[in-house]
Amino acid sequence: MARNDLTAEYQALKTEIHYHNYRYHVLNDPVISDAEFDLKLKRLDALEAEHPEWITPDSPSQRAGAEPLEQFTKVAHPAPILSLSNAFNEQDLYDWHARITRLEERAGGADFVVEPKLDGLTVVLHYRNGDFVQGATRGNGEVGEDITENLRTVKALPLHIPVVHDGPTVPNELVVRGEVLITKADFEALNRRLVEQGQKTYLNPRNTAAGSLRQLDSRITAQRPLTLLVYAIVDYEGGAIPTTQWGILEFLRALGFPVSSDSCYCRTLDEAVQRCLETDPNAFPFEVDGMVVKINDLVLSAQLGVVGKDPRGAIAFKFPAQEVTTQLNDIGVNVGRTGVITPYAILEPVEIGGVIVKQATLHNFDFIQEKDIRVGDRVLVKRAGEVIPYVIGPIVDVRTGAEVPFSVPHNCPSCGEPIVNPEGEVAYYCTNSACPAQLVRNLEHFVSREAMGIVGLGIIIVEQLIGADLVHDIADLYRLTKDELLNLEGFADKKAENLLMAIAVSKSQPLERLITGLGIRGVGEVAAQALAKHFADLDMLGASSQSEIETIEGFGPNIASSVVEWFHSHENQVILAKLKESGVWPQAESRSATGDQPLAGLTFVITGTLPTLSRSAAKQLIESKGGKVTGSISGNTDFLLLGADPGSKLDQARQRGVETLSEEALQQLIKDRLE
Ligand code: IVH
Repeated sequence: MARNDLTAEYQALKTEIHYHNYRYHVLNDPVISDAEFDLKLKRLDALEAEHPEWITPDSPSQRAGAEPLEQFTKVAHPAPILSLSNAFNEQDLYDWHARITRLEERAGGADFVVEPKLDGLTVVLHYRNGDFVQGATRGNGEVGEDITENLRTVKALPLHIPVVHDGPTVPNELVVRGEVLITKADFEALNRRLVEQGQKTYLNPRNTAAGSLRQLDSRITAQRPLTLLVYAIVDYEGGAIPTTQWGILEFLRALGFPVSSDSCYCRTLDEAVQRCLETDPNAFPFEVDGMVVKINDLVLSAQLGVVGKDPRGAIAFKFPAQEVTTQLNDIGVNVGRTGVITPYAILEPVEIGGVIVKQATLHNFDFIQEKDIRVGDRVLVKRAGEVIPYVIGPIVDVRTGAEVPFSVPHNCPSCGEPIVNPEGEVAYYCTNSACPAQLVRNLEHFVSREAMGIVGLGIIIVEQLIGADLVHDIADLYRLTKDELLNLEGFADKKAENLLMAIAVSKSQPLERLITGLGIRGVGEVAAQALAKHFADLDMLGASSQSEIETIEGFGPNIASSVVEWFHSHENQVILAKLKESGVWPQAESRSATGDQPLAGLTFVITGTLPTLSRSAAKQLIESKGGKVTGSISGNTDFLLLGADPGSKLDQARQRGVETLSEEALQQLIKDRLE
């Protein structure tokens, strides 16, 4: 290709990637698949490898992080980064309104905007001619720290504001204020990963966002699932901006910034108060500690001025704290699947936000020591929506002297073997690979939805199988027989058959699911996907070297060596040989062909009792082969999978001329289509 064509391709590709990034991370509405997106990124990387001179700071490739810094430099903000005064109830909001109306009569008839008060980290983002040029923390409100490189890795942050036809004009200089956050779900997932890697966990989502933004090595920040929402313009030059808060939110949204969709316009204070009172703090995907009520008219708001650091034109309505105190009755320890031992609090049951809490996490043993938490203490416990409740600390003032300091147990509570704390690590481990507690967790993980997806195999059956000495590792699942299962309590013919079928169906799970299921330290779903893309099967992966694995994006020396170690362990080699012998040996799927997806494009409905498969096993089989299963016959239905004693679906299928299929015919169809 001529050089001109290549530069044109490169520019177009950059724009496209920015667009798809925006669809995914800002609108949460992607229009292409992850695989297609990855291909575009790969092409961009290839072009940049050939022409490093083309790379500019706004290239999507620059989101991966830069060389570590020695320290952060200071940045003076163009205007003070103000704070907010608080309201704790309805009356406080009416009092605020009365106060400002005495100062400016116009405030009496004002309209308002109500926004979630995001519990993240305030950031100040500078754009010059549409390019993101600098980002800073709030600091003391006058001077913050330059965290530009870290912010560049936040995928929801626009690196460039595109000029859109019919869109608003972008001021030459634009300084935007927002909040960097991490969702509750991402926070929990990150902490689970840190536990597996033997690293210190974060205490809460806010602390995670803060810790991630304060990394001197932005490559670490790049691996953190940070996101962003913006809500104000701090300063601008060369252009115009709206004069109402609602206008500002729409303007920022139109420029491509992520803006909360939970903000709302309220014509009167009564409406705004109502909105505050009826909002459920737990309904948000991220932590929100209140609602902010803002005067919509920004000219009026500015006229109202500032008291100390708090503008009079806005106020934070704080939700009742989801924190309570209760007695710490005991400290228990859990054994994770990699042997990591973690402490948890056994509490005097207490209600927090409508839920009875009996246990809470204590993070790690260092935390207990740092906070000097003792058994018998009154402790402050916080619950925020779906986040596992956590202990904040002891209330030292009410100690009676009967509290007992805690020391880390010397032996594993499950197998009794010694617990070790490797030098330089926060984590304590049970190193006995035959520890039953670890095996339970391992199997639980192996059969989970993210891994092999064996439905019907819950923790109780896992414990039963281990207790009956039928299963000593993940591969033993594939050697279970019906007779063995029938000896277990609660197992009759049907249940045994269904379980064996679900286990058999899982053999056709793709390679990445099997890799996830192996439970290699540091290898979750994302890393497993990357490995499955790179290696054809487990033989190839097992034969690879640390340096080869390190060439894969996102793999540092730690994960790479953990993968190599896993495959070199004698015990794991035995497991692999057993898996292979049982036919659990998926091959990487080829990207273009449908591969082992013979039912791709076909839609099925299931009715009646099938001879061997339960409904859910049949559904799983069809879906694992690329087909779709729906609940009712429609114009899109291709086949009715028909068992004994069918329901009304059979009549509907006949009326619509939908073909019926027996279980046997389904198996045949799969075979035929594979050839
Ligand atoms: S407005 C003049 N809006 O809450 C502007 N602040 O306690 C003052 N915060 O440090 C801030 N969500 O970082 C505003 N929708 C929102 C907010 C918000 C979170 C933070 C802000 C500030 C703190 C005030």
